[in-house]
Amino acid sequence: MTSIPERLLVSNAADFDRVDQLRAESDAILIGAGTIRSDNPRLIVKSESRQTERVAAGRARQPLKVVVSESGDLDPDVKFWHHGTDEHRPVVYTTTMGGAWARSRLGELADVVGLGHPLDFGRMLDDLGARGVRRLMVEGGSRIHTTFLMEDLADELFLAIGPVLVGDIYAPRFLLPEKFPGGSTRRRTLVDLTRVGDVAVLHYHLGENE
Ligand SMILES: NC(=O)c1ccc[n+]([C@@H]2O[C@H](COP(=O)([O-])OP(=O)(O)OC[C@H]3O[C@@H](n4cnc5c(N)ncnc54)[C@H](OP(=O)(O)O)[C@@H]3O)[C@@H](O)[C@H]2O)c1
Repeated sequence: MTSIPERLLVSNAADFDRVDQLRAESDAILIGAGTIRSDNPRLIVKSESRQTERVAAGRARQPLKVVVSESGDLDPDVKFWHHGTDEHRPVVYTTTMGGAWARSRLGELADVVGLGHPLDFGRMLDDLGARGVRRLMVEGGSRIHTTFLMEDLADELFLAIGPVLVGDIYAPRFLLPEKFPGGSTRRRTLVDLTRVGDVAVLHYHLGENE
């Protein structure tokens, strides 16, 4: 998959604010190295009032930031390492080989954790749990979403659908082709449907349908 040259904003301002609220309710936010390379995100809670509310509740001003990278090839100059990291360094989960590369590139910017090869997402979640993370928000991209759903590791799914038709063959998709547990006949539970301006937000619970 190749990223399209200009970032297409499928959501609207109100929906981005909804996402900011979800970030503020999370202990940690996780993305894949591909999203860091293509989008150069800060991955922070933007609203100052939400930051203040977190502090008043005895939490860190910003959620812990987490990145998954098999290669460990992470650019130390991107925004990810330099915003919202005053209270805790981002955590990099990688392979044994990737760990050496990530440490040499990032130095003190990140806490690098090697998880063998292939990278074990179950161990990653155990490690995050040991760091006090109870609610993890997974923000993409396609390969990360695919792995979480293929390994049945997510409890909830929020799907925002914008009113645009994307025909570019290289545009990123929500999921990559994969054998998901239960196959395509397994039904999930739609628990809520919200209109946010011209965007529809679907909220699913991912266990078996009752
Ligand atoms: N619409 C949205 O809400 C949204 C949100 C986020 C991202 N996106 C889009 O999604 C695209 C990026 O998606 P992507 O699939 O290319 O990248 P990605 O999922 O963000 O990251 C892929 C990279 O993460 C690491 N990784 C992911 N799963 C792994 C696994 N199971 N085992 C080991 N390493 C793993 C690898 O890192 P290494 O390459 O370092 O080995 C892999 O190349 C971008 O175009 C971005 O704009 C959209």
